[in-house]
Amino acid sequence: MMEISASILGINEESPIRQLYDLEASGINYFHIDVMDGKFVKNNTTDKMIEYLECLNSISVLPLDIHLMVSNIKEYIDKFIVFEPNNITFHLEACKDENEVLELIRYIKNNNCKVGISIKPKTEVSEIYRYLPLIHTCLIMTVEPGEGGQPLIPETVKKIAELKKYIDKNNIEVDIEADGGINLDTINDVKNAGANIVVAGTSIVKSENYTETVRKLKNNL
Ligand code: DX5
Ligand code: ZN
Repeated sequence: MMEISASILGINEESPIRQLYDLEASGINYFHIDVMDGKFVKNNTTDKMIEYLECLNSISVLPLDIHLMVSNIKEYIDKFIVFEPNNITFHLEACKDENEVLELIRYIKNNNCKVGISIKPKTEVSEIYRYLPLIHTCLIMTVEPGEGGQPLIPETVKKIAELKKYIDKNNIEVDIEADGGINLDTINDVKNAGANIVVAGTSIVKSENYTETVRKLKNNL
């Protein structure tokens, strides 16, 4: 069954608690927390995400799937580890070399947290191969990171299939998570390509009935 990680980037800032409650009750598997620092990507969502996490702390037990779109990764791990997330995912493109990637993987694990690495649409899948045995999730960006509500970039679906083929061939246990532009029209493509978790923001948050939308996304209806 496809797992759904709901991005809270686009919730209505006037009534966040109501929407977070409704998302919690809708059948999602994770809350996807999109942290942007205004450097790695142009938007800065740090304070907003911390505010929402403080709300979630008191109303939810669902696992937190933190997506760091930041340049100074260690600084942000330290900021967000306090919320005891299920996993912290950082961008390969924000790391200067292999040593930094390995150091960050170790650092996150030493904080009793699962590790994800994300790659942007233009980054080759092969760039991440050497880290796959060490991490829990590979987050394939199906849009350019930086904002919600963008259409899925079709070429990125091939990357998911390429990654799936590689992990199957090499017997590697790692989740493949697709992030960006996932809705009832695109979820089948990413599922058939091999994703087992999808991030859905706009397609849930802007829908009339969250539970109905999540049910359809899970069952590809
Ligand atoms: C984009 C974020 C995505 C995005 C998903 O930088 O990483 O998680 O918010 O939102 P939708 O589902 O609206 O594309
Ligand atoms: Zn994201």
